[in-house]
Amino acid sequence: MLVGGKGTRLRPLTVNTPKPMLEVAGVPFLSHMLTRAKAAGITRIVFATAYKPEVFEEYYGDGSRFGLEMEYVQEVEPLDTGGAIRNVADRLQSAPGDPVMIFNSDILSGMDLAALLAEHETRGADVTLHLTKVADPRAFGLVPTDRDGWVTAFREKPQRPEDIVTDQINAGCYVFRREIIDGIPTGRRVSVERETFPGLLAAGSKVLGVVEQSYWLDLGTPGAFVRGSADLVLGAITSPAVPESTCPRYPEALVLDGAEVAESVKLGAGSTVGQGARVAADAAVYGSVLGAGSSVGEGAVLRDSIVGRGARIGAGTVLEGVVVGDGASVGAGNELLQGVRVSCDAVIPDSSVRFSHDPS
Ligand code: GTP
Repeated sequence: MLVGGKGTRLRPLTVNTPKPMLEVAGVPFLSHMLTRAKAAGITRIVFATAYKPEVFEEYYGDGSRFGLEMEYVQEVEPLDTGGAIRNVADRLQSAPGDPVMIFNSDILSGMDLAALLAEHETRGADVTLHLTKVADPRAFGLVPTDRDGWVTAFREKPQRPEDIVTDQINAGCYVFRREIIDGIPTGRRVSVERETFPGLLAAGSKVLGVVEQSYWLDLGTPGAFVRGSADLVLGAITSPAVPESTCPRYPEALVLDGAEVAESVKLGAGSTVGQGARVAADAAVYGSVLGAGSSVGEGAVLRDSIVGRGARIGAGTVLEGVVVGDGASVGAGNELLQGVRVSCDAVIPDSSVRFSHDPS
């Protein structure tokens, strides 16, 4: 499980918490992946850590609480994706020909993991990649395949129209034959996407792509993060790790332990109200994630926004597509729109200007 990235696209949420540990639908995102891995028959997880490594072990420990065996390997310097995989090789118990599954830890996916593994084995591949199709592949690594599914090229984040040769992209979940991992260079940064995969193709290795069109979302950006969380709450993708809501009067929201939501609040579109958070009268919260201990003032309106732990949103303030860092305070009567990010512990005073808005 690759968990060492800095999660720069999700700042300031990732200033205090590594991306895989950010709460999505009530639990650290990683818990959704781990329960799915377990359901697919995986029994042992090795975490490749770099950024804020201690957070993972503190939360998951030896894994027994989750019915899994867990180990942690910390990089002294971040080794990038391929280097991170190589760095855990001596903790793998698999024989040279055995399959090892590798996960990017920011992907929410309904991929049938057992089927991916079975395909890898029956086709005799050296490496098998889960591929998905997206409408706009420019932000991803393209992976064209031949008629039989064998990968013909890797094109990272193509920008020129002529480079967009397929809509199949690397979905961030792989099966490697153990001995392929042992062949990755040690002690330096290696990108699995830019170096290892193209190198394997050039060396004539059997690299298979399995296109599967189940639910798939890369939670790396704020927009995708709120969408993924809402999809879990609304059941567009199911995860056994989603906790029960404590507030049945909002069927389209997840309200966690100790949260207080006033009677007149409008709450829905897959929102999550974190542990001990408070939402005051007449506020409206749609498609948003409110962190533990945060508060939303009277009459505030939040859409598709993320409010960090302990952050405070003032009365009548409007947030749309905004990220508020942990401990920040946005004063009353402000209007913050698409793409605004408020740093952790920042203080925005009350606004003296009146904005009109429609809380419906
Ligand atoms: P951004 O900075 O927002 O791009 O996020 P990120 O740092 O997570 O990078 P990216 O999404 O490209 O990373 C893909 C996967 O590889 C994620 O699961 C990361 O945690 C992981 N990853 C990236 N770099 C490293 C690294 O140097 N070491 C380890 N162990 N994992 C890494």
